[in-house]
Amino acid sequence: MRIILGVGGGIAAYKSATLLRLFTEAGHSVTVIPTASAGEFVGRATWEALSGQKVPEGIFDDVEKVNHVRLGQEADLIVVAPATADLLARAAAGMANDLLTNTLLMAACPVLMAPAMHTEMWRHPATSANVKLLRERGITVLEPATGRLTGVDSGPGRLPEPDEIYAAAMNTAGGASDGAAVTQPDARQTAAFQSPVAHSAAVQPAAGPLAGRTFVITAGGTREPLDPVRYLGNRSSGKQGAALAKAALDAGATVHFIAAHTEVEPPAGVELTAVETALELREAAQAAAQAADVVVMAAAVADFRPAELSGSKIKKRDDGEDPVITLVRNPDILQELVQNRDATGSTGVPLIVGFAAETGDAESDILSYARRKLERKGCDLLVLNQVGTGVVFGQDETSVQILSPGTEDTEAASGTKADVAVAIIDRIAVELKAQH
Ligand code: C5P
Repeated sequence: MRIILGVGGGIAAYKSATLLRLFTEAGHSVTVIPTASAGEFVGRATWEALSGQKVPEGIFDDVEKVNHVRLGQEADLIVVAPATADLLARAAAGMANDLLTNTLLMAACPVLMAPAMHTEMWRHPATSANVKLLRERGITVLEPATGRLTGVDSGPGRLPEPDEIYAAAMNTAGGASDGAAVTQPDARQTAAFQSPVAHSAAVQPAAGPLAGRTFVITAGGTREPLDPVRYLGNRSSGKQGAALAKAALDAGATVHFIAAHTEVEPPAGVELTAVETALELREAAQAAAQAADVVVMAAAVADFRPAELSGSKIKKRDDGEDPVITLVRNPDILQELVQNRDATGSTGVPLIVGFAAETGDAESDILSYARRKLERKGCDLLVLNQVGTGVVFGQDETSVQILSPGTEDTEAASGTKADVAVAIIDRIAVELKAQH
């Protein structure tokens, strides 16, 4: 493939040198177009040495080659990493004030942008609006990674690792690695791709029993902020959700992974939406469910959130009084998804899978609790975990029972979370087959 690697002016520009190597080692021909400020971080000699190609610096260099038109027209894929807030804004506004933005305007090929900036800039409404607009136009804008930023700051804003950008870029190009032709996404995948919550479209025509199926998988634990430094959270590690996403991908499905706080990285190849709170997760899940065949609610969603979010850190009071935190109920996302689906009159699409982490008690055994939950939530399958025995949270091994409505029979699976994920995905595949 002919790839254009656009490099914005941020400290993360150095990571793009590794990304460039990944592209060239896979046999792609890469032209690097750094912005003027990118030159403050990594010089053109580095790009030319690593790409083996001249860096076309400006609109007015090599005018006879009409670079500002030709480069965008000829590219099979454009990757912008890091995409600074300024670059996102210029791209969203359709500006053409340097060679990179000219090239973006000329591009007829898939475009992926990997933002990197400070958290405040990323969360600024201007940046959010620009990202939304770019996504609506079909550009894949990755979520930045969360972690240490320049200086002492930390939060969302880090450039994802080069191998992650590489994997996302190959998905964006429709699996057109190794110089193969670019595959166009089918209509359904395009809908997901253009949804405001779709972050990177995994549009690879895959083989496997779930090829052509779209899964939405939620994972991790939501965090409900109390004040700028504190939150109410839970112990979910997101390992089971990530294992489910991997098993679904391996079976050929397209996976939209909605990640609350997780201790593990999402598997490469998913379309990722990062969320923090139950309300954010609800918005992302409802939007993504519209293009899904299956929704798997593996996330541990907080049932309650603080009624008020304090704008400043809650202080110890001089009068010695303890603060009182009032909680309000969060919506039951799983139940709402079922109700929304049933209200549309659609016949069981998407298939909706819930999870239940239960402990038995003096009144009832865990299976009875789970059966009642399945009935209450109305989902098509309920995966029951027994908690309190050392298995489940954060562990690598687990043991589940899968319940479905209208039968007392349950299916058991145990082993590593990867083994259990494969068993759950297999069961979902059976249900899907029975449905159609
Ligand atoms: O009621 P409980 O929290 O035990 O139900 C667990 C299931 O419901 C999980 O699938 C979880 O993702 C989902 N859930 C939800 N919205 C909530 C709480 C849980 O969708 N507010």
